[in-house]
Amino acid sequence: MRRKVRIILVLLLTFVPALSAFAGDVEAGKKLAVAKGCVGCHGSAGISYGPVWPNLASQHGPYMEAQLKLFRSKERIDPMMNLYASSLTDQEIADLASYFASL
Ligand code: HEC
Repeated sequence: MRRKVRIILVLLLTFVPALSAFAGDVEAGKKLAVAKGCVGCHGSAGISYGPVWPNLASQHGPYMEAQLKLFRSKERIDPMMNLYASSLTDQEIADLASYFASL
């Protein structure tokens, strides 16, 4: 029994940091949101400047990450977002999604 607990603990300590390494960096995302022009439509507080642009504040990170990848691969079509997502790396997408989710 104690052996099982020890094995589980070792597995947790090994894999949990590895999993969190995939999470985005909020501070990097904040800088990217300005540098990549996202705030021009979605707002620096994640509240968009017009009714045709969705608010992103407190939207779920994994959902936004998935949507940005769909825009990048053009599986989800929107001329603006296809353009803005086209050059983003996986890490930049994770950072941006983490930033908007944190607002
Ligand atoms: C020119 C305006 C504009 C800019 C700049 C822009 N977006 Fe968007 N964004 C939109 C519009 C419009 C939609 C909704 C598209 C649709 O209807 O499918 C959208 C949708 C999204 C969505 C999905 C929201 C949802 O609820 O499904 C995310 C996430 C997103 N944008 C993130 C970003 C990020 C990150 C950037 C910067 C790299 C960015 N956007 C730049 C206009 C913009």
